[in-house]
Amino acid sequence: MRRGVTIFLLVTILVLGFAVHSVWTLLGLLIASGREDAILRGELPAPNSSALNQAPQLIPKIIHQTYINDSIPKHWQAPQQSCIDLHPGYEYKLWTDKKSREFIAAEYPWFLETFDGYPYPIQRADAIRYFVLHHFGGIYIDLDDGCNRSLDPLLAYPAWVRRTLPTGISNDAMGAVPRHPFFLKAIDSLTDYNRRWPLPYITVMASTGPLFLSIVWRHYNNAGPVDGDRVRILFPEEYNNHSWSFFTHHLGNSWHRTDVKVIFWLGKHWMLVTLFGFAVGFTILGLLYKFFVVSKNKRSVGPGSPKPRFLNQRVPFYRRISQKTSFELDDRHEV
Ligand SMILES: *[C@@H]1O[C@H](CO)[C@@H](O)[C@H](O)[C@H]1NC(C)=O
Ligand SMILES: *[C@@H]1O[C@H](CO)[C@@H](O)[C@H](O)[C@H]1NC(C)=O
Repeated sequence: MRRGVTIFLLVTILVLGFAVHSVWTLLGLLIASGREDAILRGELPAPNSSALNQAPQLIPKIIHQTYINDSIPKHWQAPQQSCIDLHPGYEYKLWTDKKSREFIAAEYPWFLETFDGYPYPIQRADAIRYFVLHHFGGIYIDLDDGCNRSLDPLLAYPAWVRRTLPTGISNDAMGAVPRHPFFLKAIDSLTDYNRRWPLPYITVMASTGPLFLSIVWRHYNNAGPVDGDRVRILFPEEYNNHSWSFFTHHLGNSWHRTDVKVIFWLGKHWMLVTLFGFAVGFTILGLLYKFFVVSKNKRSVGPGSPKPRFLNQRVPFYRRISQKTSFELDDRHEV
């Protein structure tokens, strides 16, 4: 009986330990606010302020966007044009599928196999933005983001990304100087994170998308970057919805599929999902307890009763121990 309880507790601790260890970064992401790296609204000059010209300009004046080809669909032409119009002194680079592939082949040939092998085109669109920011520096903007004011004040930070609620960061608007260590880490991690998950949405999110970048961000910050290596965080109010915000958001997410609805539903009802998870977990634990401890107990009460099939065939580790116990009992009987 005691041995059964010990084994049960050990197995439980091992399983729980493994589960917590494997989602540790994700758990950390839930509490990472990014506040300590926030771009404070007070440090940003107002859209028409004369303080604008005094801010340092570290990030090169380049705007990067991506699309399949040069024919931008109608609904994204206005946001695209708003960014071009507000930034007359900037170079504008549209990364089409063809240009992206040529760029990777020329500058980062070690990545070409992974790049070509991605099952979903959006993964290439995700990956290319990290590479062009690493190589050229500049500001990447999703085509569904329009510009509300000049991005000049954001050139003052060596690297910045946008905070998303409730957790993590997004990859839809980001800026950096060339060769910034954060984007170096991002492009360096892409190959390791290139895994397929049961749902396309999760595969995209976790291999190249915002979840991937958020996890890289967590790991990067754990190393305690200082000064110019820090990644500064643009918070939602500075991102859009206000007259002083930098962007306007337009309908997008063209790649979303039906599995996304499931994920969004899970996200919306996360409390329910968590409770359900706990219920399932405890039920499994209870069943295990019953098999490991209670049936063992029953068996030692009645030595003549046949062994449960479960103990003989399903759990070899446990069977070995239970056999040893019965040898001990037999010996004692003989004495
Ligand atoms: C800044 O000035 C421009 C033109 O001078 C004007 O159109 C715009 O509304 C102003 N922005 C704000 C937030 O005041
Ligand atoms: C660009 O891509 C779109 C979407 O796949 C396609 O409908 C269009 O014909 C393409 N345009 C050119 C010029 O290839």
